[in-house]
This record gives sequence, structure tokens and C-alpha cells, in this order.
Amino acid sequence: MKVIVFGASGMIGQGVVRECLLDPEVEDVLSVARSSSGQQRSKFRELVHKDFFDFSPIEKEMTGFDACLFCLGVSSVGMSEEDYRRITFGITLAAAGTLVKLNPQMTFIYISGAGTDSTERGRTMWARVKGQTENALLKLPFKAAYMFRPALIVPLHGIKSKTLAYRISYALMRPLLPLMNILIPRYVTTTEKLGRAMLKAAKRGAPKTVLEVPDINSL
Ligand SMILES: NC(=O)c1ccc[n+]([C@@H]2O[C@H](COP(=O)([O-])OP(=O)(O)OC[C@H]3O[C@@H](n4cnc5c(N)ncnc54)[C@H](OP(=O)(O)O)[C@@H]3O)[C@@H](O)[C@H]2O)c1
Repeated sequence: MKVIVFGASGMIGQGVVRECLLDPEVEDVLSVARSSSGQQRSKFRELVHKDFFDFSPIEKEMTGFDACLFCLGVSSVGMSEEDYRRITFGITLAAAGTLVKLNPQMTFIYISGAGTDSTERGRTMWARVKGQTENALLKLPFKAAYMFRPALIVPLHGIKSKTLAYRISYALMRPLLPLMNILIPRYVTTTEKLGRAMLKAAKRGAPKTVLEVPDINSL
């Protein structure tokens, strides 16, 4: 399976790439990123691209993939709705629109978040925008598209979030995580479980198109 990853430098993306590299069924991983990580690993290539609203100059390189694991995203903290939508909806749909045209047999997997608002009308800004993004992705003619909605993600294997707000929250919560795993397992997953579940959905499909934490953990 040939996989294209967006957001590979982020917390979820690093976890996903790790699982791809360990999976013998994955033969090729291409990370599309705005800067190079400088890392050389077998089956892993990077394509540095500056304009994430226009992928037309790199269409040739984005062709021939079986799955897209889309982990790119930002925290809405301190952002206006317009700016948050521009990145969350704008970049995601620009990438997905290009990919579906070039790879109609592709499975597209999007990381949204627990609490995403499919009605697009609720009070919470980020949840409406993620809902709008999910709904638009589900209308595209991919072979399959799955919306993953994680909540608390425990980073394993030395992985760290690029988002300061997430890094601070995880540092504060770390001592409580074992307890949370027991008390609120419905809300907790790990970067490893999430990466493996995304790969499973990409390879063999999933029972639902929208996966909440228990669905992710049991895949
Ligand atoms: N972490 C959590 O606990 C959690 C829980 C639920 C849902 N989520 C969702 O999962 C997604 C990823 O979260 P994360 O924790 O992995 O985030 P992260 O560590 O902050 O990583 C974000 C990734 O997105 C890329 N990115 C951000 N803005 C970009 C832009 N304008 N153009 C190109 N690339 C851009 C970053 O690339 P650069 O290296 O170039 O900055 C990085 O690879 C987000 O949508 C988040 O809402 C996260």
C-alpha cells in the first residue's frame, strides 16, 4: 500500500508515520510538508511544498497512492473563525480535491476531533468548522472516507505535539493519565492505537464512516 501523509511532523502525524514504517503492508510513505524534517528513513520520502491552498504544481508527485492519512490541523485557541476555517477547511479540501481527482481509488482518513458538530450549526466554533470539513470530505467521490474523532491522545515513543497548548495540557495531565484510562476510557487513546487504527481502516475499511474513540480503540 502506498500512503500519503499530511501533518507528519505533528503529534498524530509522527505516530501515524511510525506505524506505517513498522507495517510490512505499507511499501511507500510520502509526507507532504511545508518544511523538511531532514530525516532519512527507508520507505519514507518528503515533498516540500509551500502553498497548501494550491497543489497543482505537485500533482504528478501526488498520483499513485492508495490512502491519505490527513493529520494536518491547528488548535482553534486564539483564532478567529475565518482564520481557523481557512486552515481547517481550506487546506484539507484543497488537498482532498486534488487527491480525489488524481487517485479516485484512494481511501481518505481525516483526523477531526471528539465533539465535532455534524450539523454545522452548534455554538462551538471549532466543532462547526470541523463538522463542515467532515461533511464536505464525505461528499467527495473517494473509494472510502473515514472521519476519526479522537479526544485525549497519549503520545508514546517520545512523540510530542507541535502545538504549545496541547503540549502544556499533556504535561499537566500526564500524572493523571493512568487514572483517566481507567475512569474515562471512552475518551482516551494513544498515538500508537490511533496510527494502527488509521492504517487498518485504510487497508480493510471500517464499520462506520465516523469513528469516535471507542471505535478507534476497538478497530
Ligand atoms: N493532539 C490532540 O490531543 C488532538 C485531539 C483531537 C484532535 N486533534 C486534531 O488532530 C489534528 C493534529 O493534531 P496534532 O496534535 O498532531 O497537531 P500538531 O502536533 O500541532 O501538528 C500539526 C501538524 O499540522 C501541520 N500544519 C499546521 N498548520 C499548517 C499549515 N498552515 N500549513 C501546513 N501544515 C500545517 C504542522 O506542520 P508544521 O510542522 O509545518 O508546523 C504539523 O505537521 C488537529 O486537527 C487537531 O485538532 C488533536
